Amino acid sequence: MTADNSTTLYSEYFDENCHSTSGANAETDFNYVEGCEVIPKLEQDREATIFEVGYGLGIGALRTYELTKKVEGKVHFISCELDEGLIQWTIENDSHPLLKGLTARSSHGTHYYENSIEDFNLKIIVGDIRETIINAKKDLSLPNFNAIYQDAFSPKKNPALWTTEWFMDLKSLSATDCVLSTYSAAMPIRKSLLAAGWSVFKREGYGEKRSTTIGRIEKEMNPEFLRNIENSPEQTLNDKLLKK
Ligand SMILES: C[S@@+](CC[C@H](N)C(=O)[O-])C[C@H]1O[C@@H](n2cnc3c(N)ncnc32)[C@H](O)[C@@H]1O
Repeated sequence: MTADNSTTLYSEYFDENCHSTSGANAETDFNYVEGCEVIPKLEQDREATIFEVGYGLGIGALRTYELTKKVEGKVHFISCELDEGLIQWTIENDSHPLLKGLTARSSHGTHYYENSIEDFNLKIIVGDIRETIINAKKDLSLPNFNAIYQDAFSPKKNPALWTTEWFMDLKSLSATDCVLSTYSAAMPIRKSLLAAGWSVFKREGYGEKRSTTIGRIEKEMNPEFLRNIENSPEQTLNDKLLKK
């Protein structure tokens, strides 16, 4: 139970909670729905494609559904999950029709779960997203991403989802207006985003966190912030270092 009475999950495998104990729902609203500017995007274009890194308990999907349902427009919410048991757990235990109604499907080589309520479509790609993302985008004919909720476990515990190569893949699958938002303010993450071609911005943090990070495409960075990142002695994260 977190401070706003929403629940989170502790993963034994990754040895970490899925959310801040200051409030799982409130943190999701702040970091992702607001951080990625989903509502203004939907109001402007009447359509938005959101990619979430890590389905977990489905809170990212549910909060986005609740906060966007009064705005006219189509939402394509694409998530991913390594542990299929978590998706099945939400189908069996969550009372919300969006999660309860998820159905397993396959298209070409991609295994996924899907459900739609009115204009909101949820797809969850099953398996290691580092291996599946490029083919899944083709197999499911997914539109380019306008928003990315970078919500993996921490870089220490879940490093494969924070490398320069991962951020390069995400960039290659995104629209030019894409906003990537993450709770992490770690310098190696900011460096890796920059090395992958993202412009990097600092945003205030939720709860006890002083700041978080935003990535954008084709936006000029604050020159002083750029110098800070470039001059930092910290290293980028990359796939080669993980294999050592
Ligand atoms: C912090 S939790 C996400 C919480 C979720 N966004 C929510 O709102 O409930 C991170 C999730 O990423 C998943 N994950 C970790 N590595 C993965 C990978 N390589 N591919 C797909 N999912 C992964 C974990 O199993 C975990 O459920």
